[in-house]
Amino acid sequence: WVRMVTAQTPTNIAVIKYWGKRDETLILPVNDSISVTLDPAHLCTTTTVAVSPSFDQDRMWLNGKEISLSGGRYQNCLREIRARACDVQDEEKGIKIAKKDWEKLHVHVASYNNFPTAAGLASSAAGFACLVFALAKLMNAKEDNSELSAIARQGSGSACRSLFGGFVKWNMGKAEDGSDSLAVQLVDEKHWDELVIIIAVVSSRQKETSSTTGMRDSVETSLLLQHRAKEVVPKRTKQMEEAIKNRDFGSFAQLACADSNQFHAVCLDTCPPIFYMNDTSHRQVAYTFDAGPNAVLFAHNRKAATQLLQKLLFCFPPNSDADLNSYVIGDKSI
Ligand code: DP6
Repeated sequence: WVRMVTAQTPTNIAVIKYWGKRDETLILPVNDSISVTLDPAHLCTTTTVAVSPSFDQDRMWLNGKEISLSGGRYQNCLREIRARACDVQDEEKGIKIAKKDWEKLHVHVASYNNFPTAAGLASSAAGFACLVFALAKLMNAKEDNSELSAIARQGSGSACRSLFGGFVKWNMGKAEDGSDSLAVQLVDEKHWDELVIIIAVVSSRQKETSSTTGMRDSVETSLLLQHRAKEVVPKRTKQMEEAIKNRDFGSFAQLACADSNQFHAVCLDTCPPIFYMNDTSHRQVAYTFDAGPNAVLFAHNRKAATQLLQKLLFCFPPNSDADLNSYVIGDKSI
C-alpha cells in the first residue's frame, strides 16, 4: 500500500523583514517580522508526501529533480514531525499505521514551485511550510498551525509565516529552545481585500548570496543590523500592526518602504557588501502619479518597456478587470 497527501502553500512577502539569526541551528531570529501571504493561485509550492512499507529510504524530488535530504534542515523537520506522529487508520484503503511504526517507515516527497526557485521570491518559505504541513497530515500529527510553524521555522525562518493566510507575525520569542518563536495570524485574507500586490519579476536568475549566508555575514559585521534589531524594528512592528488593523495604506506604504530600504542598507553595511537589487530594480523603471489615480510607469527604452509590459500583462491578464490596454512610453504608444 501507499498513503499519500498533497498540500499547496503560497509564499509570503515580508513587509517588516527578518534578517539575522541569534541561533543558527534552531533558526531563531534577532527581531520580529511581519508578512503578507500571497494568493495560493499565484506563487505557491505543491507538495505530495507518500509513505509505503516498500520505501527503503527517505527521498525527495524538487521540480522533478532528486535532491539530497541529508541537510540538517530537512532532517530537523522530518524528525520533529515524526516525533508527533499518531495512529493512522484508513479503512477504505485497508491502511493501519500505529504510532510506533512511523520510526521505521520512510517517506517520498515530490515538490513543485510555480515560480523561480531562489530568486528572492521566498521559495524556501512556501517549500518548508508545505512540506511540514503535508507531513503533519500524512502522519496525523495533531498540532495546530502555530505549533507547526515552529517546526517549519527550522527548515527556513520565513517558512513559519506561510502556515497562515492574510497578514502574519513571526514572534521572535525569548526561550532558548525556540518554543515561543512562532507565527501568529494578525488578520485573515479577507481583512484587507482591496490591497493589490504586483510582483514585477525583473530577473529569475538564482540570487548570488543566499539569505542564510547573507544574514550570517550581516550579524557578524553590520553595526546597523544591531541598531535595527534593538531600536528600530520593535517600534516599527507595533506601528505596522496598527496600520494593518486600520487598513491605513499611507502608514503601511511608508513603513514597508522604510523597512525595505533599511534591510538593503544593512546589506550594504555588511562586509563584504551584499547587493540584492540589480540595475533593473534601480534604474530601468520609474513611476509618477499626476493629479489623478493612474500610475505612469517609465522605462528607459523600448526594450525595457516591452519587458515591463510583459510583466504587467503577467500581473493583469486580459480577463482581469484592470484597464491596462494602452501603455504610453514618452509620446509613443505600444
Ligand atoms: C529577505 O527565511 O530564506 O526574505 O532562515 O536562513 O532560510 P533562512 O532564511 P530565509 O530569509 C528570508 C529573508 C527575507 C526577509 C523575510 O522574508 O523576512
